Amino acid sequence: MTSPRTLTPGLPFLWERARRVNPSSLVARARRAGRRHGRSTLGVVVDMLWQAGVRGVGFQDYIDYDFAMLTRAERATYMTSPVSHRLAVRFDDPAYRHLFHDKIAFNGTFAPHLQREWMVVTDDNADDVRAFALRHGTIVTKEPMGRAGLGVHRYLARDVTDWSRFHRGLLDRGETLIEEVIRQHDELAALCAGTVNTTRVTTYFDGERTHVLAMAQKFGRGAVSDQNAFGGFYAMLDETGRATGDGYDSNDRVYPTHPDSGIRIADFRLPMFDEVLEFVDRLARVVPQVRYVGWDIAVSPTGPVLVEGNWAAGVYENKPSATGIRTGHKPRYLAAIDADAAGSASPLPHAAPARAVA
Ligand SMILES: Nc1ncnc2c1ncn2[C@@H]1O[C@H](COP(=O)(O)OP(=O)(O)OP(=O)(O)O)[C@@H](O)[C@H]1O
Ligand SMILES: [Mg+2]
Repeated sequence: MTSPRTLTPGLPFLWERARRVNPSSLVARARRAGRRHGRSTLGVVVDMLWQAGVRGVGFQDYIDYDFAMLTRAERATYMTSPVSHRLAVRFDDPAYRHLFHDKIAFNGTFAPHLQREWMVVTDDNADDVRAFALRHGTIVTKEPMGRAGLGVHRYLARDVTDWSRFHRGLLDRGETLIEEVIRQHDELAALCAGTVNTTRVTTYFDGERTHVLAMAQKFGRGAVSDQNAFGGFYAMLDETGRATGDGYDSNDRVYPTHPDSGIRIADFRLPMFDEVLEFVDRLARVVPQVRYVGWDIAVSPTGPVLVEGNWAAGVYENKPSATGIRTGHKPRYLAAIDADAAGSASPLPHAAPARAVA
């Protein structure tokens, strides 16, 4: 169990981690980090194991956030994946998690905030799929239970010759959610028009207030998704919606400019920032039993729209070698969650959230 005062993981969690260590991948990552920061591989391996076992720092966190170059005090300011997971387990009510986990249930629950057409593929609706695709020209399809960010696809209606086969293929591959393509704001399209560049806003709802814990802007490379698995990268945003420095990905690449548009990442400022903050506050109240959420928001020409919400939200943190900033967001998490613990966590409403039908 996580202690809300310090946000450190407990013993059962540490045991779980120790069982999952993959020695060759650990050494490969340690060697890379050692080279980069002028430290021995062995020294980094020992440090990574210690940090994972005692401080709840995932191996990928250690690499992504340059722990090899940080002091103990600086490291303590970082939110990490194992700690984030423990927060989700603690603050996201299991009885309501499926509303986030299943993208079809999610779209139904958050329908008024999606601002786009969507439909579900069933055994007998090939004609509806055809009409939907022809109406929109391009469609995005999703595997409702997600596959680590890989379950999103894009099709052009003009490439389809046999609609019955196309429909059958969607069912066979489990791509049963279809969406209209989101139109993004011109300032976001300028960076990369071929991908909808989303903003990850991580929030904690304390029963009264929505606390924004961290914000990151993702940048795509022209593929259907802006996720790392599709070549995407991100930059953290400050409390005014400005990028805090260069962009970076989970493969140790740093992006001073967007490779496709040449725009400087450090100059990025999220359009309609105030509207985004108001928007996430409204979203956080839809299912108040799920308090800790990572929202993916797309800013459209007329305002923010919701892409999805993640109950077991991945961590987006500051990379010191890309920004020159050596601290993370944990103090913001602690401030929000401690305040709640101090107020002895007002009881949450248990009414089921309203379900809209598309
Ligand atoms: N309707 C849409 N129109 C245009 N682009 C979309 C649409 N839906 C999703 N995308 C793009 O695909 C990305 C991933 O979509 P989404 O957040 O729904 O799934 P995911 O993060 O891959 O899912 P999971 O993390 O659950 O595996 C978005 O960040 C956005 O770049
Ligand atoms: Mg997403």
